[in-house]
Amino acid sequence: MKKFTRVLSMVAAAALMAVTFTACSNSSSSGEKKGSIKFGTNAEFPPFEYVVAKGVIGEFDGIDMAIAKQIGDDNNKEAKIENMEFDSLLVALDNGKIDAAIAGMTVTDERKEKVDFSEPYYNAKQVMIVKEDSDIAKASDMQGKKIVVIQGYTGETCVKKLGYSYQSFKKGTEAILELVNGKCDVVVIDSATADKYVKDNKGLKIVEDNDQFDNEEYAIAVKKGNKDLLDQINKSIKKMKENGKINELAAKYADATTDDSSK
Ligand code: ARG
Repeated sequence: MKKFTRVLSMVAAAALMAVTFTACSNSSSSGEKKGSIKFGTNAEFPPFEYVVAKGVIGEFDGIDMAIAKQIGDDNNKEAKIENMEFDSLLVALDNGKIDAAIAGMTVTDERKEKVDFSEPYYNAKQVMIVKEDSDIAKASDMQGKKIVVIQGYTGETCVKKLGYSYQSFKKGTEAILELVNGKCDVVVIDSATADKYVKDNKGLKIVEDNDQFDNEEYAIAVKKGNKDLLDQINKSIKKMKENGKINELAAKYADATTDDSSK
Protein backbone atom coordinates (compact mmCIF):
# COMPACT_ATOMS: atom_id res chain seq x y z
CA MET A 1 0.00 0.00 0.00
CA LYS A 2 2.81 2.33 0.97
CA LYS A 3 4.73 1.54 -2.20
CA PHE A 4 1.62 2.03 -4.27
CA THR A 5 1.14 5.55 -2.85
CA ARG A 6 4.73 6.43 -3.63
CA VAL A 7 4.38 5.27 -7.22
CA LEU A 8 1.18 7.23 -7.50
CA SER A 9 2.77 10.41 -6.22
CA MET A 10 5.67 9.94 -8.62
CA VAL A 11 3.23 9.60 -11.47
CA ALA A 12 1.43 12.70 -10.26
CA ALA A 13 4.66 14.64 -10.06
CA ALA A 14 5.64 13.56 -13.58
CA ALA A 15 2.22 14.58 -14.89
CA LEU A 16 2.56 17.95 -13.18
CA MET A 17 5.97 18.48 -14.74
CA ALA A 18 4.58 17.64 -18.15
CA VAL A 19 1.78 20.15 -17.68
CA THR A 20 4.21 22.82 -16.50
CA PHE A 21 6.45 22.08 -19.43
CA THR A 22 3.72 22.38 -22.07
CA ALA A 23 2.36 25.49 -20.38
CA CYS A 24 5.81 27.04 -20.70
CA SER A 25 6.32 26.14 -24.31
CA ASN A 26 2.85 27.36 -25.24
CA SER A 27 3.16 30.72 -23.63
CA SER A 28 6.37 31.69 -25.37
CA SER A 29 4.63 34.12 -27.68
CA SER A 30 7.72 36.28 -27.72
CA GLY A 31 9.86 33.28 -28.63
CA GLU A 32 10.55 31.95 -32.05
CA LYS A 33 7.49 31.55 -34.22
CA LYS A 34 6.79 28.29 -36.01
CA GLY A 35 5.74 29.28 -39.49
CA SER A 36 3.25 31.93 -40.51
CA ILE A 37 -0.35 32.56 -41.43
CA LYS A 38 -0.75 34.62 -44.56
CA PHE A 39 -3.81 36.85 -44.26
CA GLY A 40 -5.21 38.61 -47.30
CA THR A 41 -6.97 41.92 -46.90
CA ASN A 42 -7.97 45.05 -48.79
CA ALA A 43 -6.56 47.85 -46.66
CA GLU A 44 -9.12 50.43 -47.80
CA PHE A 45 -11.62 49.95 -45.04
CA PRO A 46 -11.07 51.94 -41.86
CA PRO A 47 -11.38 51.22 -38.95
CA PHE A 48 -10.85 47.55 -39.91
CA GLU A 49 -7.82 47.87 -42.18
CA TYR A 50 -5.86 50.77 -43.56
CA VAL A 51 -2.31 51.68 -44.49
CA VAL A 52 -0.16 53.77 -42.15
CA ALA A 53 3.54 54.43 -41.65
CA LYS A 54 3.62 51.96 -38.78
CA GLY A 55 0.80 49.58 -37.83
CA VAL A 56 0.30 46.42 -35.77
CA ILE A 57 1.51 44.34 -38.73
CA GLY A 58 4.02 46.25 -40.84
CA GLU A 59 2.31 49.25 -42.36
CA PHE A 60 -1.15 47.81 -41.79
CA ASP A 61 -3.36 48.79 -38.90
CA GLY A 62 -6.97 48.49 -37.78
CA ILE A 63 -9.32 46.17 -35.90
CA ASP A 64 -8.84 43.25 -38.32
CA MET A 65 -5.08 43.66 -38.32
CA ALA A 66 -4.99 43.46 -34.52
CA ILE A 67 -7.23 40.38 -34.65
CA ALA A 68 -4.95 38.75 -37.25
CA LYS A 69 -1.92 39.47 -35.09
CA GLN A 70 -3.64 37.91 -32.06
CA ILE A 71 -4.55 34.78 -34.05
CA GLY A 72 -0.89 34.51 -35.05
CA ASP A 73 0.29 34.95 -31.45
CA ASP A 74 -2.22 32.43 -30.11
CA ASN A 75 -0.84 29.82 -32.51
CA ASN A 76 2.80 30.81 -32.19
CA LYS A 77 2.85 31.85 -35.84
CA GLU A 78 3.75 35.09 -37.54
CA ALA A 79 0.77 36.91 -39.04
CA LYS A 80 1.58 38.23 -42.50
CA ILE A 81 -0.56 40.56 -44.60
CA GLU A 82 -1.07 40.51 -48.37
CA ASN A 83 -2.88 43.62 -49.53
CA MET A 84 -5.02 43.18 -52.64
CA GLU A 85 -8.27 44.22 -54.26
CA PHE A 86 -11.35 43.18 -52.32
CA ASP A 87 -12.65 41.27 -55.34
CA SER A 88 -9.47 39.17 -55.49
CA LEU A 89 -9.60 37.82 -51.94
CA LEU A 90 -11.74 34.74 -52.55
CA VAL A 91 -9.75 33.76 -55.63
CA ALA A 92 -6.48 34.19 -53.70
CA LEU A 93 -7.84 31.81 -51.05
CA ASP A 94 -8.79 29.29 -53.65
CA ASN A 95 -5.41 29.25 -55.37
CA GLY A 96 -3.46 29.19 -52.11
CA LYS A 97 -1.92 32.65 -52.41
CA ILE A 98 -3.28 33.40 -48.93
CA ASP A 99 -4.37 31.20 -46.02
CA ALA A 100 -7.19 33.39 -44.71
CA ALA A 101 -9.05 36.53 -45.72
CA ILE A 102 -9.73 39.13 -43.03
CA ALA A 103 -11.35 42.18 -44.55
CA GLY A 104 -14.49 43.21 -42.72
CA MET A 105 -16.00 40.56 -44.93
CA THR A 106 -19.72 39.95 -44.58
CA VAL A 107 -20.89 36.35 -44.51
CA THR A 108 -23.23 35.83 -47.48
CA ASP A 109 -24.79 32.70 -48.98
CA GLU A 110 -23.06 33.38 -52.26
CA ARG A 111 -19.62 33.59 -50.62
CA LYS A 112 -20.36 30.53 -48.47
CA GLU A 113 -20.50 28.50 -51.65
CA LYS A 114 -16.88 29.38 -52.38
CA VAL A 115 -15.18 29.52 -48.96
CA ASP A 116 -15.63 28.51 -45.33
CA PHE A 117 -16.27 31.22 -42.76
CA SER A 118 -15.17 31.44 -39.14
CA GLU A 119 -17.44 32.37 -36.28
CA PRO A 120 -18.61 35.95 -36.84
CA TYR A 121 -16.72 38.59 -34.85
CA TYR A 122 -18.52 41.86 -35.67
CA ASN A 123 -22.05 43.05 -36.49
CA ALA A 124 -22.60 45.71 -39.10
CA LYS A 125 -25.19 47.03 -41.52
CA GLN A 126 -25.32 49.16 -44.64
CA VAL A 127 -26.02 52.87 -44.19
CA MET A 128 -26.28 55.87 -46.49
CA ILE A 129 -23.82 58.74 -46.33
CA VAL A 130 -25.26 62.01 -47.64
CA LYS A 131 -24.53 65.73 -47.44
CA GLU A 132 -25.80 67.35 -44.25
CA ASP A 133 -28.56 69.22 -46.12
CA SER A 134 -29.73 66.17 -48.10
CA ASP A 135 -33.43 65.29 -48.16
CA ILE A 136 -32.69 61.56 -48.30
CA ALA A 137 -34.23 60.13 -45.12
CA LYS A 138 -34.84 56.48 -46.07
CA ALA A 139 -33.60 53.99 -48.66
CA SER A 140 -36.47 54.58 -51.09
CA ASP A 141 -35.54 58.28 -51.25
CA MET A 142 -32.47 57.20 -53.20
CA GLN A 143 -34.61 56.48 -56.23
CA GLY A 144 -33.62 58.79 -59.06
CA LYS A 145 -30.60 60.09 -57.13
CA LYS A 146 -26.95 59.62 -58.04
CA ILE A 147 -25.96 56.60 -55.96
CA VAL A 148 -22.37 55.45 -55.47
CA VAL A 149 -21.26 52.08 -54.07
CA ILE A 150 -17.94 50.28 -53.78
CA GLN A 151 -17.34 47.52 -56.28
CA GLY A 152 -17.99 44.04 -54.90
CA TYR A 153 -19.08 45.19 -51.44
CA THR A 154 -22.39 44.05 -49.97
CA GLY A 155 -23.57 47.67 -50.33
CA GLU A 156 -23.57 47.12 -54.08
CA THR A 157 -25.71 44.00 -53.68
CA CYS A 158 -28.19 45.95 -51.53
CA VAL A 159 -28.61 48.77 -54.04
CA LYS A 160 -28.88 46.28 -56.89
CA LYS A 161 -31.64 44.48 -54.99
CA LEU A 162 -33.54 47.73 -54.53
CA GLY A 163 -33.40 48.04 -58.32
CA TYR A 164 -31.78 51.49 -58.47
CA SER A 165 -29.04 52.36 -60.91
CA TYR A 166 -25.70 53.30 -59.42
CA GLN A 167 -22.08 53.95 -60.13
CA SER A 168 -19.34 51.87 -58.49
CA PHE A 169 -15.86 52.88 -57.37
CA LYS A 170 -12.90 50.76 -56.31
CA LYS A 171 -12.20 52.59 -53.06
CA GLY A 172 -14.31 54.08 -50.30
CA THR A 173 -12.15 57.21 -50.35
CA GLU A 174 -12.94 57.76 -54.04
CA ALA A 175 -16.66 57.43 -53.36
CA ILE A 176 -16.50 59.91 -50.48
CA LEU A 177 -14.56 62.40 -52.60
CA GLU A 178 -17.31 62.17 -55.20
CA LEU A 179 -19.90 62.96 -52.54
CA VAL A 180 -17.88 65.79 -50.97
CA ASN A 181 -17.43 67.33 -54.42
CA GLY A 182 -21.16 67.16 -55.05
CA LYS A 183 -20.84 64.73 -57.97
CA CYS A 184 -23.15 62.19 -56.36
CA ASP A 185 -25.97 62.30 -53.79
CA VAL A 186 -25.38 59.26 -51.65
CA VAL A 187 -22.78 56.58 -50.84
CA VAL A 188 -23.98 53.22 -49.51
CA ILE A 189 -21.37 51.50 -47.32
CA ASP A 190 -20.90 49.59 -44.04
CA SER A 191 -21.78 51.39 -40.80
CA ALA A 192 -18.45 51.55 -38.94
CA THR A 193 -16.58 52.66 -42.05
CA ALA A 194 -19.26 55.26 -42.73
CA ASP A 195 -18.83 56.62 -39.17
CA LYS A 196 -15.15 57.00 -39.85
CA TYR A 197 -15.64 58.85 -43.15
CA VAL A 198 -18.25 61.19 -41.67
CA LYS A 199 -15.92 61.97 -38.80
CA ASP A 200 -13.03 62.73 -41.14
CA ASN A 201 -14.96 64.82 -43.69
CA LYS A 202 -16.96 67.96 -42.95
CA GLY A 203 -20.56 68.39 -44.05
CA LEU A 204 -21.63 64.74 -44.22
CA LYS A 205 -24.16 62.74 -42.22
CA ILE A 206 -25.36 59.16 -41.94
CA VAL A 207 -28.89 58.03 -42.74
CA GLU A 208 -30.01 54.59 -41.57
CA ASP A 209 -32.88 52.48 -42.81
CA ASN A 210 -33.16 49.33 -40.75
CA ASP A 211 -36.22 48.15 -42.67
CA GLN A 212 -34.29 48.00 -45.92
CA PHE A 213 -30.81 47.05 -44.78
CA ASP A 214 -30.35 43.77 -42.93
CA ASN A 215 -27.83 43.05 -40.20
CA GLU A 216 -24.54 41.75 -41.51
CA GLU A 217 -21.88 39.70 -39.76
CA TYR A 218 -18.15 39.91 -40.44
CA ALA A 219 -16.10 36.71 -40.37
CA ILE A 220 -12.74 35.40 -41.53
CA ALA A 221 -12.73 33.23 -44.65
CA VAL A 222 -10.51 30.21 -45.35
CA LYS A 223 -10.27 27.85 -48.29
CA LYS A 224 -13.09 25.34 -48.31
CA GLY A 225 -12.18 22.36 -46.12
CA ASN A 226 -9.23 23.97 -44.30
CA LYS A 227 -10.55 22.79 -40.96
CA ASP A 228 -7.26 22.98 -39.05
CA LEU A 229 -6.82 26.68 -39.68
CA LEU A 230 -10.51 27.36 -39.17
CA ASP A 231 -10.36 25.68 -35.74
CA GLN A 232 -7.35 27.78 -34.74
CA ILE A 233 -9.07 30.95 -35.91
CA ASN A 234 -12.33 30.10 -34.16
CA LYS A 235 -10.55 29.39 -30.90
CA SER A 236 -8.91 32.81 -30.97
CA ILE A 237 -12.13 34.58 -31.96
CA LYS A 238 -14.04 32.87 -29.16
CA LYS A 239 -11.40 33.97 -26.66
CA MET A 240 -11.34 37.55 -27.97
CA LYS A 241 -15.13 37.77 -27.81
CA GLU A 242 -15.23 36.38 -24.27
CA ASN A 243 -12.43 38.48 -22.82
CA GLY A 244 -13.73 41.68 -24.39
CA LYS A 245 -10.75 42.20 -26.68
CA ILE A 246 -12.85 42.71 -29.82
CA ASN A 247 -15.00 45.36 -28.16
CA GLU A 248 -11.86 46.99 -26.86
CA LEU A 249 -10.33 47.07 -30.36
CA ALA A 250 -13.54 48.41 -31.89
CA ALA A 251 -13.57 51.29 -29.39
CA LYS A 252 -9.87 52.00 -29.80
CA TYR A 253 -9.89 52.11 -33.60
CA ALA A 254 -13.15 54.05 -33.85
CA ASP A 255 -11.29 56.91 -32.19
CA ALA A 256 -7.95 56.42 -33.90
CA THR A 257 -6.79 58.74 -36.64
CA THR A 258 -6.78 56.53 -39.68
CA ASP A 259 -4.09 58.06 -41.77
CA ASP A 260 -5.10 56.51 -45.07
CA SER A 261 -1.85 57.14 -46.87
CA SER A 262 -2.90 54.72 -49.62
CA LYS A 263 -5.20 57.39 -51.06
N1 ARG B 1 -18.67 44.20 -45.56
C1 ARG B 1 -18.59 44.48 -46.95
C2 ARG B 1 -18.51 43.19 -47.74
O1 ARG B 1 -18.21 42.18 -47.21
C3 ARG B 1 -17.45 45.38 -47.31
C4 ARG B 1 -16.10 44.87 -46.94
C5 ARG B 1 -14.98 45.69 -47.49
N2 ARG B 1 -13.74 45.35 -46.90
C6 ARG B 1 -12.53 45.81 -47.28
N3 ARG B 1 -11.51 45.43 -46.59
N4 ARG B 1 -12.37 46.60 -48.28
O2 ARG B 1 -18.75 43.17 -48.92
